[in-house]
Amino acid sequence: MTIKVSSWNEFDPLKHVIVGRADHTCIPPSEPATEAKVPDDSDMRGMWGPRPLETVEKANAQLDALAALLESRGVLVDRPTPIQWNQAVHTPDFSAGSMFGCMPPRDVLLTVGNEILSAPMSFRCRYFEYLAYQPLMQHYFDADPDFRWEQAPRPRLSEDSYKPGYFDEITTDERLKRTANLDFVTTEYEPLFDAADIMRLGKDLFCQHGLTTNRRGMQWLQRHFPDHRVHSVNFPGDPYPIHIDATFVPLRPGLIINNPNRPLPDDQRQIFNSNDWEIVDAATPVHNSPPPLCYSSVWLSMNCLVLDHKTVIVEASEKNQMEQMDKLGMEVLPLPFRDAYPFGGGLHCATADVRREGSCEDYFPKQVGNTRL
Ligand code: ALA
Repeated sequence: MTIKVSSWNEFDPLKHVIVGRADHTCIPPSEPATEAKVPDDSDMRGMWGPRPLETVEKANAQLDALAALLESRGVLVDRPTPIQWNQAVHTPDFSAGSMFGCMPPRDVLLTVGNEILSAPMSFRCRYFEYLAYQPLMQHYFDADPDFRWEQAPRPRLSEDSYKPGYFDEITTDERLKRTANLDFVTTEYEPLFDAADIMRLGKDLFCQHGLTTNRRGMQWLQRHFPDHRVHSVNFPGDPYPIHIDATFVPLRPGLIINNPNRPLPDDQRQIFNSNDWEIVDAATPVHNSPPPLCYSSVWLSMNCLVLDHKTVIVEASEKNQMEQMDKLGMEVLPLPFRDAYPFGGGLHCATADVRREGSCEDYFPKQVGNTRL
């Protein structure tokens, strides 16, 4: 198949995608940014090191099954090249005891049109994660003369990038207050964003302002994509606001499911309402807790992979979410994926677009509300 990098949104027909791998994934030692991410009551507190081989094998089996399902639907699938993540890393500004992994390419790679941009990343342990995708980037570069291979400014991630003691003995109520006040562990010292904080809807890029993406990161994105409109959104009900794709998930033009515990504030809804987009509450997850040693919440139930405007892959045990998608007019392809969750998230997290059909549409001609930078 001809290689052509092009993707403008989360729902046009998917033709070419990267599916992550679990090999060598580590639980990194604590650092300022991961302190923020790991819930206080999580079984991950105090744990670090390579994940048990048996869990890696189970996760890889589900990732391989995702790749096979996509191929059976005519989608070209590429895989990253894992490196030995269990190595300490050092830069002039910091050291980290290990790296993380390459199960969730969505966190790192942002595809906008014919460009794939590697995000700065805000965790020290994820500083070198882009290396797992370098062989693919080189391949696309050689195969597609129009491909733009880009890297956002490498952050320093020194002490200046984090608020000291931000999460010392903090209650959930306090976390929620801080989220509502846009007070996050990362400072505005330098541009920071993870690619998974950005929802692509044609000319408009909606960025979650939270623990992993700051205002400067969004300003950088606006200057980098001058023909786009970059918006800042936030979800005050989320005590751990990291990555938008278990919170606010578009299914097709005009339709978004929103985590009911993390509703988009009214003043930020205006742009969707005025342009006739419907925002519906996502279905309740089936599970009361995430699988063991998992960073994410039970809301990975809504972290689906949309194949086209009528077809979506949903985790196979999430009956409520599947039923809701069905009622919303989608054909649902169920796929077991909970063994992969602890390695970096759900079906959307585990993938990154290379090509979707379609072009850059203007879904929001009425620019109202206060989401613009
Ligand atoms: N922030 C995402 C969650 O809800 C990943 O777990």
